[in-house]
Amino acid sequence: MPEAPAGVTIREETLEDHEAVARIVTDAFGQPVEARLVEALRTEAGPYLSLVAECDGSIVGHAFFSAVEVEGAPDAPPLGALAPLAVVPALQGGGIGAALVRAGLARCPEHGWRAVFLLGDPGYYARFGFGLAAPRGLRYLSEAFDAGFQVLELEPGALDGVHGLVQYPPAFASL
Ligand SMILES: CC(C)(COP(=O)(O)OP(=O)(O)OC[C@H]1O[C@@H](n2cnc3c(N)ncnc32)[C@H](O)[C@@H]1OP(=O)(O)O)[C@@H](O)C(=O)NCCC(=O)NCCS
Repeated sequence: MPEAPAGVTIREETLEDHEAVARIVTDAFGQPVEARLVEALRTEAGPYLSLVAECDGSIVGHAFFSAVEVEGAPDAPPLGALAPLAVVPALQGGGIGAALVRAGLARCPEHGWRAVFLLGDPGYYARFGFGLAAPRGLRYLSEAFDAGFQVLELEPGALDGVHGLVQYPPAFASL
């Protein structure tokens, strides 16, 4: 896996981590909505990847990747999406978020995902290679999200000829 900040280990979550994950996701977002989303996704998402960052025996960060589809594009390759991403407030800005993103992207091919979508600040995600999806004809729900909807091809050309609305698991409708 890519390097994490000193003392921080990135690993796949276990059942024992669920409570700590809910706590840090709630703290990071300042509300319980995203933590509930994670709980729903664990049961309803298809293949998923749920990573935690651990420091001194405590969970300090979390990233969830789930499978998504493109409406009207049955020939699209398997695709993933990152959401949510959270780091405990006291440790934000120390590289834990970046380590979670990089570790997750490195493991996406295990699920066959050939590109990864996310909704977020392009100022943060450009460093990982993400770019706006709208110019490629890929959209999340409506054009209102175009400014933050981004994609990274893990394999050049993976999205050639793939256009349409990207469909996330139904739990995202609760956001
Ligand atoms: C977003 C988040 C996961 C980033 O993790 P992190 O460990 O704090 O970030 P890193 O240390 O890897 O990266 C720090 C850099 O990201 C920038 N950054 C952090 N959060 C950002 C945000 N929400 N938007 C834009 N830039 C952000 C910092 O300014 C810093 O920039 P620099 O490297 O140019 O100085 C974390 O801040 C967090 O949990 N925020 C609250 C929840 C949230 O907004 N999640 C993302 C939803 S898309």
